[in-house]
Amino acid sequence: MKVLVIGGGGREHAICWKLNQSPHVTQIFCAPGNAGIAEIATCVAIIPNDIQRLAELAIVQKIDLTIVGMDEPLSCGIVDYFKSKGLRIFGPTQNASKLEWSKYFAKEFMLRFNIPTAPYACFDRREFAVAYAKSQSPPIVVKADGLALGKGVTIAQSFEEAKTAIHDCFDGKFGNAGQKVVIEEFMKGQEVSIFAICDGADAAMLVSAQDYKRLNDGDTGPNTGGMGAYAPVPFATPELLGKIKEEIILPTLHGMKQEGNPYHGILYCGLMITEEGIPKVIEFNSRLGDPETQVVLPLLDEDLFEICWAVTEGALGKYKDGLHRLGGAALCVVIASEGYPYSYKKGIPIDFHKLNEPVEVVSGQNPKALESILKAKGIIFHSGTARDADGKLVSNSGRVLSVTALADSLIDAQVLAYKLCERIDFEGKIYRKDIGDKGMV
Ligand code: AMP
Ligand code: GLY
Repeated sequence: MKVLVIGGGGREHAICWKLNQSPHVTQIFCAPGNAGIAEIATCVAIIPNDIQRLAELAIVQKIDLTIVGMDEPLSCGIVDYFKSKGLRIFGPTQNASKLEWSKYFAKEFMLRFNIPTAPYACFDRREFAVAYAKSQSPPIVVKADGLALGKGVTIAQSFEEAKTAIHDCFDGKFGNAGQKVVIEEFMKGQEVSIFAICDGADAAMLVSAQDYKRLNDGDTGPNTGGMGAYAPVPFATPELLGKIKEEIILPTLHGMKQEGNPYHGILYCGLMITEEGIPKVIEFNSRLGDPETQVVLPLLDEDLFEICWAVTEGALGKYKDGLHRLGGAALCVVIASEGYPYSYKKGIPIDFHKLNEPVEVVSGQNPKALESILKAKGIIFHSGTARDADGKLVSNSGRVLSVTALADSLIDAQVLAYKLCERIDFEGKIYRKDIGDKGMV
């Protein structure tokens, strides 16, 4: 089978890496891909929103299955277009992915189907939004309605800050995404990302993960695309996961089907588990998370191709009672460029050669053994890399590498991931030093 993956970040590298292990898959194409993906797939320089050219590629290359990693092509209707051409594709239609691309739609939908989420109000006039914000006590959560690369949410600690966030939206800081604004109640609790693979009626859940969205240690600094993740999340017990399925995932599938937009593909539930232990929806996304995918897929003990194929057949039945997963834990640290998420340089050389040097002797440990663990259990997914004119590996984006480690315990995965990060030479590299800490308290 020939598979085409759409996207070019760490998430898509992890998807290609997992597909590459399937005996069904003979060739992987990725558009546009990156330098890491190019080691296992044929990368084609087509931008993910150029749906027509992507469909042409799928026809010419006789692609058997296309898997969409990113949100934007879904919101542009890539699934509808591919299907209209008779091409098999994994992901929700444009109408179904509205759960992600319109926060206003998602909130109204949750209200209609009694799915737990924060109380909210929605505005398309700035003066009404400002007046409403004034009536609320901080923290006030202000969200641009549409897609904003994960940066359209402000948790305002004062009315003044909320007002600025509202003006930013209506002044076009997020383009069209900010022409409607959702203001909602602040929820206290612990966050968890749950990915449900959906076939329109049923769902199979992947292992729970936690994402680190803020730039700096201790969850400070600006929001980013995601600076790290780990899985599984200790407080996501089987009871809690059962509750999430019964109260959030299945009612969502039922509602979408009832409204004529059956949901196929990944339903990403960004959840707050409140202090009372109640799961509430922060947001829905219509694809896997980045960097959560870089920890979730390495723990999946199933054939990803078979799962995606089953979804396109509308036949997830075999997986309904759960997906097998490996024991232990996975942890991913994102290495970003200095200046991210604002301005940063591209084209900085990346050097991995120190990964092969023997490690320092740690008392009580056999250095050779540690070295072999480092190699066997570390996976470096590329988030934004390219080759320069001389073929050397260089940075090509804000988030550059996703350094994943697998181990029997979360603490061991953390030690391994940070050892790998230290050994990667990349001028101006920045990364958080506390990924995984929240899973160990
Ligand atoms: P979103 O893009 O909607 O996932 O929001 C980005 C981040 O803002 C989330 O991961 C949460 O940390 C935070 N957030 C969003 N909405 C709320 C809320 N109603 N209460 C508390 N935190 C929130
Ligand atoms: N890690 C957050 C996201 O992918 O939206």
